[in-house]
Amino acid sequence: MTPLPPSVARAWLPVALSRDVGARPLARKLAGTPIVLVRMDGAVRAFVDRCPHRNYPLSDGRLRNGLLECPYHGWGFAADGACALVPGQPPGSAPPSRIACEPVAVEERHGAVFARLSPDGPRELWLPPLIGDPGHDHFWWGHDSWRGRAIDAVENVLDPYHTSFIHHGIIRDRDRRQRVELTLHLYEDGLDASYTQDKPDPAWMSRALEPPRTRSAGRYYPPVTVQARWYGENDRLSLSVSAFFTPEGPDSFRPFACFTTPKGRGPGWLKEQAIRLFLRPVIRQDREALTRQYDVIEQFGGPKFHQGPLDRVSTAVAKLYAGQKLEPGTEGPWEVRL
Ligand code: FES
Ligand SMILES: [Fe+2]
Repeated sequence: MTPLPPSVARAWLPVALSRDVGARPLARKLAGTPIVLVRMDGAVRAFVDRCPHRNYPLSDGRLRNGLLECPYHGWGFAADGACALVPGQPPGSAPPSRIACEPVAVEERHGAVFARLSPDGPRELWLPPLIGDPGHDHFWWGHDSWRGRAIDAVENVLDPYHTSFIHHGIIRDRDRRQRVELTLHLYEDGLDASYTQDKPDPAWMSRALEPPRTRSAGRYYPPVTVQARWYGENDRLSLSVSAFFTPEGPDSFRPFACFTTPKGRGPGWLKEQAIRLFLRPVIRQDREALTRQYDVIEQFGGPKFHQGPLDRVSTAVAKLYAGQKLEPGTEGPWEVRL
């Protein structure tokens, strides 16, 4: 089991989609800590999922008369976490409001709910560009928890080479590879790998979903966020996918993605249906691949990776994931076959 770097607890990460959080408490796990989400007074609240009385899971409770009620002894907690009700206490006495459930920083933005476990992280939630931009259509995709390491999922999205094999016949074709140029932009706190191609992609998924592709790029925002973008003629964006792999702990994560397309190319709901349809087999393949990989890593007590000639980004990704800074600059272009 590879421990998570401290940066994961400090990061703002999606823990649920807005539509999944209501008056019924929702149990989630973030960086090893169980949390509970509930909508109280119209706003989403998050607490460590542990009743301060006898440590019963608050996510088993319910919202009653505006308070989050623990099912064990019925204590009720207000939106700020303070105990506001102890059933059976002597009449006229005040509930012990200094006893409170532990709040977790939470923000609802553009259809998703983000939480930050450690108070040492940035106060303000920051999201990759384009998410929620009014000039684009957006939709969120969220999934149940996947077994595996979030960092391997990050690498999977940044790695176009696996698409010729794991997604053979859907995204790329392992027998019909084409010339592509890779340029790597390094920033102190991230990187962007840009793949320029002079011929449109031959795979049926790209042909169905995009105008002829000229370039694709993957930007890594540590610790566990990747934004993949695809461009058509005149470097015009055709699709952006902002993927977040929220670690539940060292050996599982919950994937979320915000899909963004420029307005104008058909109604948003139709684009959403088309993307979801094409995405289904791809996600199944990636999930299976990440689980297979994780099984081997586990059986051997940890990863033992070697860098091949195409693994241009992995060393920088590992550094960033561990919380280190990069020397800014541009590397490449390198000619590769995809
Ligand atoms: S354990 Fe929650 S009220 Fe007692
Ligand atoms: Fe993939």
